[in-house]
Amino acid sequence: MTIDLNGIQLRNRLLTSASLLGYGASKSRLILYGLSPIAQWVPLERFGAVTTRTLTLEPRAGHFTLQEDWSLREFPELLRLYGKALHKVDAGWLNAFGWSNIGLARYFDEYFGRTAGLNRIISVGGFSADEIEQLIESVNEHAKPGEIAAVELNASCHNVNFPFNTILEEALRRAVPKSRHPVILKVSPDEDYRWQARLAASYGCAAVTAINTVKGLRLHPDTGEPYLRNRYGAISGRAIKPIGLRVVAELRDAGFRLPIIANGGIRDFDDCREYFWAGADAVSLGSSVWLQPMPLYALGPLEGLRIRRLISRIERFAPPERAPHWTPGAEAAPSAQPSPVPAEPMIVPPVLASAGDVPSADRA
Ligand SMILES: Cc1cc2nc3c(=O)[nH]c(=O)nc-3n(C[C@H](O)[C@H](O)[C@H](O)COP(=O)(O)O)c2cc1C
Repeated sequence: MTIDLNGIQLRNRLLTSASLLGYGASKSRLILYGLSPIAQWVPLERFGAVTTRTLTLEPRAGHFTLQEDWSLREFPELLRLYGKALHKVDAGWLNAFGWSNIGLARYFDEYFGRTAGLNRIISVGGFSADEIEQLIESVNEHAKPGEIAAVELNASCHNVNFPFNTILEEALRRAVPKSRHPVILKVSPDEDYRWQARLAASYGCAAVTAINTVKGLRLHPDTGEPYLRNRYGAISGRAIKPIGLRVVAELRDAGFRLPIIANGGIRDFDDCREYFWAGADAVSLGSSVWLQPMPLYALGPLEGLRIRRLISRIERFAPPERAPHWTPGAEAAPSAQPSPVPAEPMIVPPVLASAGDVPSADRA
């Protein structure tokens, strides 16, 4: 069975969120660098799609490291760096890797061939419209139509300390029409996501992903030192689930009609169903599933079994025709943004226009 979300072909409605499974494969069987250890207990090709870590044109250490080979002696230093980029907090995680990645060219050289069995969404990020256009062109060059499900544009990450809204409109205007693949825009709960979603619809994106992480801060209670190297970080996990649900529901309340891929604190079937009720078309597993305090990774085989059952349940699940609180057309008051788009752009793609509010193929 294939789900067609406005041109994005998914194997089912359960995806994995950007970065949690690194580039979709590990370099060796022993060291699962960048890939959650739980991933080895789940056949990743069973997911609707697997989303890569955000890739940039050039490799970036970000607030972490690009070193992949660590001797046993260097291990404490690796753990120290790790602790400065990712911290378990309250009911979730605080991270600031800052787009630490090997760069798009190396991804295609080293991982693209090895992950051909997966349905892939490639996440990309850049700091100017120029860069984003080049990223799209590079994906076009390396991936034939059908070889990947979509490109996801990450213009909503706190950890690179960049005002994405200043380049978003130009980036979408220039890059989306060039793409041979459907483009997804990942929106931020800390910005005006209705505005971002309107831009996505206006400039031809196929869908949005909602939400990216929420900006946060934790300080060591004894010293006042920030836990993370970047001081601020990005909160994910259970703590942000109500925020994710709110964003999805508010987009639907505002009349947004493109498919929404939802994430934020999703762990089990009830979480997925809640997001579908709020108006999501697909859901995505992130840190509540793939990140655990170290000793709990020993329970990986059990967690793997649970995830495989969750995939099967989602495969059989038919999402609600329309969420009960979704009131299309009830457009929310527009908010001031650096570069507002006309009120028009809740564009209904042809596939939706001909089939009511939801694509018929989606509801199969
Ligand atoms: C350690 C970590 C790294 C992340 N890196 C990225 C990234 O590279 N690109 C991106 O778009 N989102 C990134 N995210 C955000 C997740 O894809 C997801 O949107 C977010 O964590 C919310 O979902 P969750 O609460 O289920 O984790 C990252 C999240 C975590 C926890």
